[in-house]
Amino acid sequence: TFTAVHALQILDSRGHPTLQVALTCQGGSVLTASAPSGASTGTHEAVELRDGGRNYSGRGVESAVAGINTAIAELLLSRPWPSQRSLDGALCELDGTADKSRLGANAIVAVSMAAARAFASVAGQPLHAWIGKTVGRAGRLPVPHFNVLNGGAHAANPLAFQEFMIAPTGARNLPEAIRWGSEVYHALGTVLRAKGMSTGLGDEGGYAPEISSAQEALELITKAIEEAGHSPGTDGVSIALDPAANYFYRDGVYELNGSSYSSTELVGYYEKLVANYPIRSLEDPLAEEDAHGWTELTARLGNLVQVVGDDIFVTNPELLRTGIQNASANAVLLKPNQIGTVSQTLDTFTIAEHGGFSSMVSHRSGETMDSFVADLAVGLGCGQLKSGAPARGERVAKYNRLLEISDAHPLLPYGLGTPHRETEPN
Ligand code: PGA
Ligand code: ZN
Repeated sequence: TFTAVHALQILDSRGHPTLQVALTCQGGSVLTASAPSGASTGTHEAVELRDGGRNYSGRGVESAVAGINTAIAELLLSRPWPSQRSLDGALCELDGTADKSRLGANAIVAVSMAAARAFASVAGQPLHAWIGKTVGRAGRLPVPHFNVLNGGAHAANPLAFQEFMIAPTGARNLPEAIRWGSEVYHALGTVLRAKGMSTGLGDEGGYAPEISSAQEALELITKAIEEAGHSPGTDGVSIALDPAANYFYRDGVYELNGSSYSSTELVGYYEKLVANYPIRSLEDPLAEEDAHGWTELTARLGNLVQVVGDDIFVTNPELLRTGIQNASANAVLLKPNQIGTVSQTLDTFTIAEHGGFSSMVSHRSGETMDSFVADLAVGLGCGQLKSGAPARGERVAKYNRLLEISDAHPLLPYGLGTPHRETEPN
């Protein structure tokens, strides 16, 4: 039972407005959450409510805040809530649109996340344990995927691919994984300085040097892994890419390094990269509308690497079901604000699991200090979390939360775990 609901407008890590909500429970405990915001969004994401007008270049969220403080508050205070699912269902009903555009997915997701914290608190459990119980999974500390080199919509350099991540798959435990990530990140800074390249940062805290090709980026990162004293590959530090291909796809072709690639040619390019570098995961390698390309890439590369759908599935249970039927990928990225409620995010995870897909939990490029996704990754036991570089407050808030959970629960396993796709016929 809630006794008060209050939201306010705050700033995200890019200095754009977002919102924070506080739910007060009977007994006095106050649980808060805040909404992140993407820059390279999928077409079918749930819609953020923005004010328009002159303030904050139209990006204010005063109307979303007002919706929480009036209509949503009235709903939440009207009766006791037996479950997260009943509360999330009522929020969707109150909104009444398929894309949550009336109250705003930014408003709804923050309320839903704060409510999950309230349910966990009433159950006397940490958030990750409550999530684990809700989906019937044993917890696991995920392999952090540190985004150490930024391009695309997250940086001003000419690099088309958006994210170059390092994953300490060979680390024995979470603190070691965090250490390796930090060591490689700093080694990369040293490599860049030695070459006279810029060590300015992109939106997710990774370096954004003035390079234009993926090979150059992969060479720099492989060198940094070695300079930090680790071995590139599964036993040491692997690499994961999120090209976010929507953003270099125009009129049916991919524009990369000044040349045009057909879908099949781009798949061939990825094949070469995968053969030459220790790449374990490819997210959004093709544009969301290039359905045929996704199926082709998964058929050709799906047994070598994880193929993750972000913009193509947008954490949406129905879009994921279609993707599983079409063998479009073999993994899904989970971002609660893409779909708008915690319950729907958990549904997407369950559908992935039944379909033999892996899951990776993710932050957004515009973030706050809220560390919800760290608990989500641990609770689901999916083995993978991406939350940007091992630097900058809003990114390390998630990694530090993992360290806290690891410290409090020394028996939790660390690592990728059994890939769900082992059960997939193929
Ligand atoms: P976004 O980027 O938060 O800007 O959408 C993250 C991603 O593409 O994974
Ligand atoms: Zn992505």
